[in-house]
Amino acid sequence: MALTRYLLWCVNDLVGFRVPELRSVAAMLGIQLRFQDPEETEHPYLLVDLEDDESARKILSRTLLVRSCFRLYAAGQSMAEIHRQIRSLIAQDFLSAYREASFRIQVEGFSKTISFQEKLDRVNAFAYLPLKGPVKLKDPDLSLHLFEYYGLDPNRAPEEPYRIFFGRWVCDGQRKQTSKYSLKDRKFIGSTSMDPCLALIMGNLAQVKPGDIVLDPFVGTGSLLIGSGHWGAYVLGTDIDYLTLHGKTKPTRYNQEFRAPDESVEANMKQYGLWNRYLDVVVSDAALPIWRRNLRLDAIVTDPPYGIREATEKIGSKRHKPRPVLGHQVKSHIPSRVQYGLGEIYKDLLRFAATHLEIGGRLVFWYPVNQDGYCEERLPSLSCLQLRANCEQVLSVHSSRRLMAYTKIKEPESSEEPFVDAELLAGFRDRFFGSAAKGTRQERKKTVNEKRQKRLHELHAQLSSASEEGS
Ligand SMILES: C[S@@+](CC[C@H](N)C(=O)[O-])C[C@H]1O[C@@H](n2cnc3c(N)ncnc32)[C@H](O)[C@@H]1O
Repeated sequence: MALTRYLLWCVNDLVGFRVPELRSVAAMLGIQLRFQDPEETEHPYLLVDLEDDESARKILSRTLLVRSCFRLYAAGQSMAEIHRQIRSLIAQDFLSAYREASFRIQVEGFSKTISFQEKLDRVNAFAYLPLKGPVKLKDPDLSLHLFEYYGLDPNRAPEEPYRIFFGRWVCDGQRKQTSKYSLKDRKFIGSTSMDPCLALIMGNLAQVKPGDIVLDPFVGTGSLLIGSGHWGAYVLGTDIDYLTLHGKTKPTRYNQEFRAPDESVEANMKQYGLWNRYLDVVVSDAALPIWRRNLRLDAIVTDPPYGIREATEKIGSKRHKPRPVLGHQVKSHIPSRVQYGLGEIYKDLLRFAATHLEIGGRLVFWYPVNQDGYCEERLPSLSCLQLRANCEQVLSVHSSRRLMAYTKIKEPESSEEPFVDAELLAGFRDRFFGSAAKGTRQERKKTVNEKRQKRLHELHAQLSSASEEGS
């Protein structure tokens, strides 16, 4: 089937995530999608070819990063070019379906404000269009849009636009969904609760479909369960931290002294009407998975700890010969923890995904990197997991995190070990904290306390020598 050109007007952030999100959604829905220039990710207008309006509607029913989609009628650098193209389309009767329909023409400038009078002039210049219906500014049958693109910097906008596009509005994307899941109004949040827009995008990169089973092995406050539950999956999670899962950690909201008794992942799912998608959350260590070998998941969507705002720990003992837990101690036993290196975390995650994903299932996770040591060859890999997406979110001048998506393409070979570049990961933490990042949470706390004590001594010494000089 011949494809038709559409204009996608994208939202103005997470620019590197747009094309991967669109590709992932189109592939999941089995829709043919061709980018005119997939490398052009900076400016807000993407040109794509699709079969028809229905394909566009299906894709935008999932995407967060496309604001709206338009059937493109003309593109050029001057209004003369646009009018020439439109006039030749009139000869082909291009708006015949809308001849008697109500309509409007909207003019948008990117990086430049177009005055009311200028807009009116642009609209009046289309008076030759074969439209006999009434003008209707709200909810017309036909909404035509003229976009003028003046570059990305409003302070350096040129006199004439770089590009002009003219098209018919087809549908809007799902960005508005994010306000519904705003962390501001969410019942239960923590210091690392995932931004709702990113949680929904993660569900798209994981190609989550209604009825899928999705696990987050580092579930925390369950933001990613909300993202996947929204797309119709049955969701479950595990976390090592009993206090987090039971809503007993210190509140993270400013001015909140105590957590409400009903703060929990479950309460969040109820708050959003996703209760019927919720399987459960269980206290469990990702390093010691509790699942039967034959558990099969459609997707694993997760944000492991990077050791910045939460500790990277697993159950274990530093003793050469750990003491056994006796029968009567089992109920009240709280296992001790040891450091869980970032390299180990990601190796375990890849191994777990290789074992428990369905063929075709997806693993989606965040991966912290230092920009200077980064190259694609150093990313985690395992031959049964094929890399599908790798989108960067910059955190600071030196560091970023990457949203990675892999598809399981075959069963794993038992002898193969995942490749994870522990050095690259260690570099990330060291850069963030300096040498203080080494060791367990207690050891880091001790280092911080020692530094504080030393500073206090110095202050006391300075104060007493100042008062001696004064007396
Ligand atoms: C970045 S947070 C996840 C935040 C979560 N996405 C949310 O929206 O709240 C990482 C989580 O991993 C948990 N975690 C750390 N080590 C773990 C382990 N060994 N096994 C399971 N969970 C662990 C932490 O308790 C923390 O809740």
